[in-house]
Order: sequence, then structure tokens, then C-alpha cells
Amino acid sequence: MKRGFLLTLEGPEGSGKSTHSRLLAGYLTQKGIQTYCTREPGSTALGEKMRQLLLSPLYKNMSVRTELLLYEAARAQHVDEIIIPALNKNITVICDRFYDATFAYQGYGRGIDPSIIKHINDFAVNKITPDLTILLDIDVNIGLGKSLHLSKDSFPRGEGDRIEQEDIEFHKRVREGYLNLAQKEPERIKVVTVESEISKTQLEIQKHIDDLLRRNNYVV
Ligand code: TMP
Repeated sequence: MKRGFLLTLEGPEGSGKSTHSRLLAGYLTQKGIQTYCTREPGSTALGEKMRQLLLSPLYKNMSVRTELLLYEAARAQHVDEIIIPALNKNITVICDRFYDATFAYQGYGRGIDPSIIKHINDFAVNKITPDLTILLDIDVNIGLGKSLHLSKDSFPRGEGDRIEQEDIEFHKRVREGYLNLAQKEPERIKVVTVESEISKTQLEIQKHIDDLLRRNNYVV
């Protein structure tokens, strides 16, 4: 039986992942591929609760170990409740962030040993790996500026969530971390530079998706 693809979008703050997830879903739907858009942390009822805890600036004293475990707990629920059932129904899942974010933010950003992250993450993901990951690369100053302007998750515009409020050096480490991950896994992680025109960036994403479809015998 055919199984859906797991496509993940990653990138520093303000890289446009959610916009491109939606556009990509439209592109695949046109090709007759059924899609489901989801995000981390969140998407399940439990995961959304954990998202609030993780992103609220109220919990500035959250320890980095607690932070890692909460992201992974939200992921475990997401994998079991949404991702695996959808893939089994031959639905292609487009996920706005997945485990590369943990290596980038908690690993490169916070300095947690990647072998510890891998151990906990392996337990959370239950052998699920993305078929393709698009890394939307953007200068951190530009990205953070955009992201703070959006006032998502109902935090006041311009103030940002707990992670966005980290200093610029943290966000630079995250970006470098993502680029290192892409270098280590070039087959899976494709770097797409964020252009000022959304359609140009989306076209680059679609080229990588078409390659994946061709490799899997779809007529593109
Ligand atoms: P976003 O979904 O709006 O990008 O917000 C999620 C935030 O959580 C973002 O700052 C990245 C961060 N994050 C981690 O630090 N680790 C993770 O494993 C994930 C999934 C997200």
C-alpha cells in the first residue's frame, strides 16, 4: 500500500515556513496528491498546550532540559496522533518544523549535546523521518524583524515569544546550525534562499518537490 510523504519546512525565525507550507499544499493538491498541513510544536490538543508553555514569555526561567523534553513530548503526541495515521492513509504531511528544529535550537542554540537530543528524539519520532526537508535560509536580522512584526500566538506585536526574545547571537547559532545540518544530510535537506518575492522562493521549493516525486515514479 502507498504511504504519503512527510515533507518538513525549517528555518530561522521569519523565514516564511507557514506561507510556503500553504502554497506547497495547493501545488500538490493540483497534482492530485492529498495533503495535510501541520506544525510543531502543536497541532494536537496536548501539543498546543505545550506550545503555549514553551513560547510564553512568562516562563523565562524554563531550564533547557525542560525545554527539550517539552518539545519532544509535543512531538511524540504529534507523531502518534497525526503524522503516522495520515501517512498510512497515503496523505502527504507538510510539517512546519520537525526534529531538525530541535538540533538547531536546543543543540546549536542552547548547547545541548546532540547525542542526547538524538537519543530522546529517536524515542519521540518512532522511526519517522522526513522524505524531504526544505530549509528556508534567511539573514537573522531580516527574519526576526518580519517575525516580530507578525505577532503570532497572540503575543503583543513587536515583543515576540520566549524564543524570539533570545539575543541575536542565539539566532545566529541556530541559523548556522541549520546550515550545518543541511551539509551533513544533503540528500534530505535542501537549502532554499528566501527571496523577497514569495513566488520565486516557492518555485525553488517546488523544483525540489518535483525531484522527489520523479524519484518515486510520479508523473510531474
Ligand atoms: P514557530 O512555529 O512559530 O516557528 O515557533 C516555534 C518556535 O519554537 C520557534 O522559535 C522554534 C522553536 N522550536 C524549538 O526551539 N525546538 C523545536 O524542536 C521546535 C519544533 C521549535
